[in-house]
Amino acid sequence: MDKLQGKVAVITGGSSGIGLAAAKLFVAEGAYVFITGRRQKELDEAVRAIGGNVTGIRGDVANLDDLDRLYESVSSTARRIDIVFANAGIAEFATLDNITEAHFDKLFSTNVKGVLFTVQKALPLLNNGASIILTGSVASAKGTHAFWVYGATKAAIRNFVRGWTVELKDRGIRSNVLSPGPIDTPIIDQQPPDAIARILSTIPMGRMGQVDEVAKAALFLASDDSSFVTGIELFVDGGRAQI
Ligand SMILES: NC(=O)c1ccc[n+]([C@@H]2O[C@H](COP(=O)([O-])OP(=O)(O)OC[C@H]3O[C@@H](n4cnc5c(N)ncnc54)[C@H](OP(=O)(O)O)[C@@H]3O)[C@@H](O)[C@H]2O)c1
Repeated sequence: MDKLQGKVAVITGGSSGIGLAAAKLFVAEGAYVFITGRRQKELDEAVRAIGGNVTGIRGDVANLDDLDRLYESVSSTARRIDIVFANAGIAEFATLDNITEAHFDKLFSTNVKGVLFTVQKALPLLNNGASIILTGSVASAKGTHAFWVYGATKAAIRNFVRGWTVELKDRGIRSNVLSPGPIDTPIIDQQPPDAIARILSTIPMGRMGQVDEVAKAALFLASDDSSFVTGIELFVDGGRAQI
């Protein structure tokens, strides 16, 4: 119950799904968490659901001014950060013949640019020995019908942590990607059911994952339990990436 005692965590996209489950678990393990999301109502509900040791800060990770406001708020209250969980992300399907510039820009702005600047702008506040966790996806390693722009965004951030592992080593900062397979969250409800059924049929464990199963892996990467783990992509996907 105290794996994160006294630690401060920033979790983008902490108002729903995987981020919210991680925020609840991190607080239960002794952390203070700052959660973000664009929608105020969902953010307020998440803060209530977490119950304590949490601040909600509204903002879009693709907007650099919003990120500046986030870290101004963190630095004025907590001052330092031990864990950055750059988790906010969006998913959309589109085939090569109907893909648009807007689809590409939207996915890359949130899933790649948003992740990069979430971490860059956290750097001055990060303690030595901090843990950076990015939410990737099994889609980074698999070819999936109409889902490869999304997959490309997650493959891009996979390389970020390889580079940061080298760049941040003198500060003892570890960087890892946590890559879920299909997990039962609102993001899944927004996708075409036939596409989700196709993906589910390829999972060796034969089922969708639950948010708590991803949150426990996030806790491992956030805590000292993973003190010699950096630069990896940890799949929490019922085996899908391995076959
Ligand atoms: N569920 C899955 O099957 C699955 C599988 C692999 C990877 N993932 C990844 O897991 C992460 C979390 O997804 P989830 O499944 O938990 O989905 P979710 O329940 O829809 O949660 C997404 C969270 O991100 C926030 N968000 C989205 N765009 C944002 C932006 N531009 N700026 C700030 N916050 C933003 C959302 O809040 P607002 O909408 O209010 O901004 C929400 O809090 C994503 O990176 C996703 O790609 C999910």
